[in-house]
Order: sequence, then structure tokens, then C-alpha cells
Amino acid sequence: MIYDFPRYLAAKKTVDDRALNAHVWQALRQNMPARPHILEVGAGVGTMVERLDEQQFISSATYTAIDNQSENIAAALQRLAHLPQTIQLSLEAVDLFDFIRQKQGKQQWDVLIAHAFLDLMDIPATLPQLFSLLKPGGLFYFSINFDGVTALEPAINPALDAQIEQLYHQTMDERLTNGKPSGDSRSGRHLFTHLRQASATILAAGGSDWVVFAGENGYVADEKYFLQFIVETIYRALAEHPALDTVQFADWITQRRAQIEAGELVYIAHQLDFLGRWPG
Ligand SMILES: C[S@@+](CC[C@H](N)C(=O)[O-])C[C@H]1O[C@@H](n2cnc3c(N)ncnc32)[C@H](O)[C@@H]1O
Repeated sequence: MIYDFPRYLAAKKTVDDRALNAHVWQALRQNMPARPHILEVGAGVGTMVERLDEQQFISSATYTAIDNQSENIAAALQRLAHLPQTIQLSLEAVDLFDFIRQKQGKQQWDVLIAHAFLDLMDIPATLPQLFSLLKPGGLFYFSINFDGVTALEPAINPALDAQIEQLYHQTMDERLTNGKPSGDSRSGRHLFTHLRQASATILAAGGSDWVVFAGENGYVADEKYFLQFIVETIYRALAEHPALDTVQFADWITQRRAQIEAGELVYIAHQLDFLGRWPG
């Protein structure tokens, strides 16, 4: 399997479309200012601005999308070539914290979006910095925040399945970025407290679980690749893990891959979405 992150992010779009919490999504629509200046951090290949345009959430806007992987920004440039000209798009390959240093005290936005992103961060340390980029009264939409459940069906070996899930989540909790802890496998539920501690107001919150399964015509769109990428990610995260028997784990991965080929694998990830205001 070719490990292609931009393709994974593109394949994830239909999964996200089904998952996004409808109540929180409609609250975003209702609260969206006219002609907003929007900033999206960790924007990947640009599927969120595409979705906002497709669903007519924004007709006239400026939209700044940043991501620290230049291959994602290159894919976004191609993908978004046909966005209406009334949406003035600015795409930049830059690290979030460098961007914050450049913009702090100089520029602020009406709406801040972080989609499938905050769970990679040290959230309590990052939120105040992110909010410094929002105008007083600005809106934030933080969607697809992972929240501690990875379920794969059918079971292979329930004890081993549970151990792999637990160790996989532990790798998220112990992740270091530039030597600093960043990541939380229960970001979703913890955001209630982190947002309150950052003085933000929550307007709406709700579950946004990914649920991927094969229907009568197999997996939809490119979701077979999405699942292959998820299984590969679990493999890479745990391949050298001392608590796992190498041969048994490799066999487990082989069986998961075979379940995908047979259209049997069901994948569920529990996540939460938030819409709120930054009082400033
Ligand atoms: C799970 S992906 C989600 C991407 C996109 N929001 C989506 O859902 O399709 C997380 C993204 O955050 C980006 N990222 C991670 N750390 C970053 C940082 N420090 N600054 C900017 N982007 C970052 C990654 O390159 C990746 O594209």
C-alpha cells in the first residue's frame, strides 16, 4: 500500500461529511457573519473550505488556510482551483506557531476553524495562542476532536484487539512534537474544561463519530483507501512496541487488511465537535 497522506485526507472527506455533528454544523451556519474573514489551521488539502462553499455557508469571504506540510498545500491549490472568486483564498505552507508569531498583534480573524487538528496539539498551551488570532466576539469551530474510542469489527481476538486499541491511544497521549508533549486521545471530552479555562464560550457541542463500513456496493468513494491508511497508521505506531509480540501483531494487521479486501471491516472512531465564541 502506498502511504499517501494527501490522498488519505481527500478520502477522509466523505467520512467527515457523514460524521460532522449536524446540530453544531447548523449552529455554525446560523452564526456565520456576512463576508467573514476566516482562518483555518491544519487545513490539509482544503476539504473544509470546499465543503463550506458546496453547502453555501460562505458566498463572499476571505479564507486563509495554513498547513505545515507543503505537499498538502500543493494538493489544496489544485483541488481548490475552481472555488468561486468571491472566496478570496490564501493558502500557506507554514507551521502554526511561526504563523502565530508573525500575526500576533497585527491581524485577527472573524472565524477560526481547526478540523481534525486540535487532538494533535498540547491543547491548554495552544488555545490562548489560537484565540489571540480571533477578533473579540469571534467564532471558533473545532471539529473532529478524537475522544478515546477506536472500534474495529469484526473482532479478531478480543483481548488482543483491546490491547492494541489501548496501546494505540497511549501513543497519542505520549506523542512528542519538537520534544514537547502534544496530543491527547481524549481531546474531545477534555475540550469542555480546556475551553472554559481559556475563557471561551461553548455555543454548541456534539458527537461526530466516523463510521466506515461497506454497503451493498462496497466502501463508498475512496474509503477503502481511508481504511487501509488507518490500519497502516496503527501498524506504524505499534510495529516496534515492546508489549506486543511482533509475529502476533503482524498477523493481526494482515487479518485487518484482509477484512478490508473482503469488505468486512467496520471502523468507528469517537469524536466531538464544538462551536463557540471568544469573548476577547
Ligand atoms: C489529521 S490532519 C487534518 C487535516 C485537515 N484539517 C482535514 O481534516 O482534512 C492534521 C493536519 O495538521 C497539519 N499540522 C500538524 N501540525 C501542524 C502545525 N504545527 N502547523 C500547521 N499544520 C500542522 C498536518 O500537516 C495535517 O495536514
